Amino acid sequence: MKTFLAVKPDGVERGLVGEVIKRVEDRGLKIVGMKMIWLDEEMAEEHYEEHKDKEFFSELISYITSSPIVAMAIEGQNAVSVIRDMIGATNPSEASPGTIRGDYALDIEQNVVHAADSKETAERELNMYFDEEELHNY
Ligand code: TYD
Ligand code: MG
Repeated sequence: MKTFLAVKPDGVERGLVGEVIKRVEDRGLKIVGMKMIWLDEEMAEEHYEEHKDKEFFSELISYITSSPIVAMAIEGQNAVSVIRDMIGATNPSEASPGTIRGDYALDIEQNVVHAADSKETAERELNMYFDEEELHNY
């Protein structure tokens, strides 16, 4: 199965792209697609559509469009839940040590990484970020 993972603007700015990739590869998961992309407002709003009525939405859109992100398609057994476990809780103060957010995130908004939270979300996000021919079989 495949999932979607992204290093968000604070992670890219802080030079954590390699660290995230290393953790994914060390875990035995396979990167089957990857690109750096600077989201415009429209794409950002589509990405975070589920949060459009939240009070943090406009700040979230400003943040996610403030620098490029590194988008990845990850393949492996139970990839969705394995990656969600690896990134840790949304709020870094609740994220366990050893998770990406638990080790690196500074606050609830700027929390280094994004990952799809279900099989359906993964499909939606992979379709949003990648064309069919950008996902590799190897
Ligand atoms: P959410 O989907 O709840 O978390 P996750 O990224 O773990 O799936 O929220 C999406 C992003 O919105 C989250 O990564 C950071 C931001 N956010 C805030 O800025 N404030 C908040 O109170 C929450 C819940 C999220
Ligand atoms: Mg989410």
